[in-house]
Amino acid sequence: MAIVVLSAPTTVHRWLWLISFLSFFMSQISLADELNLVGSSCGGTFNNTTDSNLYRSNLARLFSQKLYNEGGNSNYNNSSYGEDPEKVYGLYQCRGDVTNQTCQSCINSTIGDTLNYCNESKSAILWYDECVMRYSDRPFSFTFESRPALRRSNGISINASDLVTVKKALNQSFSKLIAELATSSELKFETVSENLSSSFTLYTLGQCIPDLSTEDCRACLNSAAQLVEYEKRSSRYLYPSCGAGFNLMNSSTDEPITPVQAPTSSGDGELNRRL
Ligand SMILES: *[C@@H]1O[C@H](CO)[C@@H](O)[C@H](O)[C@H]1NC(C)=O
Ligand SMILES: *[C@@H]1O[C@H](CO)[C@@H](O)[C@H](O)[C@H]1NC(C)=O
Ligand SMILES: *[C@@H]1O[C@H](CO)[C@@H](O)[C@H](O)[C@H]1NC(C)=O
Ligand SMILES: *[C@@H]1O[C@H](CO)[C@@H](O)[C@H](O)[C@H]1NC(C)=O
Ligand SMILES: *[C@@H]1O[C@H](CO)[C@@H](O)[C@H](O)[C@H]1NC(C)=O
Ligand SMILES: *[C@@H]1O[C@H](CO)[C@@H](O)[C@H](O)[C@H]1NC(C)=O
Ligand SMILES: *[C@@H]1O[C@H](CO)[C@@H](O)[C@H](O)[C@H]1NC(C)=O
Ligand SMILES: *[C@@H]1O[C@H](CO)[C@@H](O)[C@H](O)[C@H]1NC(C)=O
Ligand SMILES: *[C@@H]1O[C@H](CO)[C@@H](O)[C@H](O)[C@H]1NC(C)=O
Ligand SMILES: *[C@@H]1O[C@H](CO)[C@@H](O)[C@H](O)[C@H]1NC(C)=O
Ligand SMILES: *[C@@H]1O[C@H](CO)[C@@H](O)[C@H](O)[C@H]1NC(C)=O
Repeated sequence: MAIVVLSAPTTVHRWLWLISFLSFFMSQISLADELNLVGSSCGGTFNNTTDSNLYRSNLARLFSQKLYNEGGNSNYNNSSYGEDPEKVYGLYQCRGDVTNQTCQSCINSTIGDTLNYCNESKSAILWYDECVMRYSDRPFSFTFESRPALRRSNGISINASDLVTVKKALNQSFSKLIAELATSSELKFETVSENLSSSFTLYTLGQCIPDLSTEDCRACLNSAAQLVEYEKRSSRYLYPSCGAGFNLMNSSTDEPITPVQAPTSSGDGELNRRL
């Protein structure tokens, strides 16, 4: 199938992304879970000088009270709780288009998921569809951090003859998205949509931690944009500092294009996966 010249990109309605991501993951969402944990990475273990139970209790207070309350007002915050050596630093960022309520659920779910996946760790990062959560016994640096990272892809996209065009379109979309993000609101969240043809619409999404400098945000997204799997119908690359992804959708129905295959994933760092 021939793909025609791109039409001018526009900012897609926020809800479209939600719909696409929901339908994209529908088959993988278990009934018991509202939020979809995409991946997690656990950091250092406790040592003799840290009271691990006190640390966990500080962690729970940080996420169930301080940050949870912030989540009702803002998509991003960082804070800390407790005294050294049991002081916990925490950070959350919800995707730019989720409701405050979803954001709060996401923050709250960190506590339970942390106990399940990173119980022996002083630090962790948890990526959800709707948010990213981090905690550590040290303050965060807010420079471009490239590890750990996670790639998550879905489906076979299109015919080999079209891959060159898709790759080019992705490059243009991501370039536009990165340029827009550099001047965007404090949320540092952006989406772009382009009609590749009468059959395919390409949606791209990018988000940086707001405390990142414009230069670091750009560098982070540029790197993530190189690492998505453009051979797939949908792919995301997630860093601690930013994330970028795309979805190829059916232009006429706004449904994910078929055929859909079992999800594949790969990444570096010490990652736990639940899907
Ligand atoms: C932790 O405590 C145990 C038992 O008291 C001791 O054997 C071990 O060397 C200590 N480890 C560190 C890192 O201090
Ligand atoms: C929800 O969060 C936004 C910022 O993301 C804020 O402007 C708004 O006031 C919040 N809504 C409520 C009801 O707190
Ligand atoms: C986090 O919330 C506190 C308390 O509302 C506020 O003072 C602070 O500016 C917020 N920090 C960020 C990074 O938004
Ligand atoms: C939150 O981030 C700011 C940088 O934006 C930093 O100055 C501050 O120390 C952080 N707060 C906590 C509690 O880590
Ligand atoms: C144990 O952990 C505390 C808090 O993270 C840290 O300050 C201290 O240096 C660590 N001690 C050792 C022996 O690693
Ligand atoms: C937070 O999550 C726990 C389960 O981990 C749940 O019991 C509780 O109701 C949640 N709280 C809020 C305010 O969402
Ligand atoms: C986490 O570790 C603590 C202390 O070792 C233990 O009491 C608790 O049951 C563990 N939680 C989970 C979910 O494994
Ligand atoms: C791929 O190419 C084949 C043969 O040209 C065609 O039948 C099929 O519809 C194409 N698939 C897509 C998704 O474009
Ligand atoms: C787009 O392609 C150019 C040339 O290959 C490359 O330098 C640039 O990093 C790419 N940009 C993105 C966002 O992929
Ligand atoms: C893409 O195509 C759809 C349906 O044909 C149309 O509604 C939409 O406006 C087009 N978007 C762009 C950016 O041209
Ligand atoms: C898009 O959806 C229409 C209507 O369901 C279908 O006929 C068409 O084959 C789909 N196109 C692609 C590329 O999946």
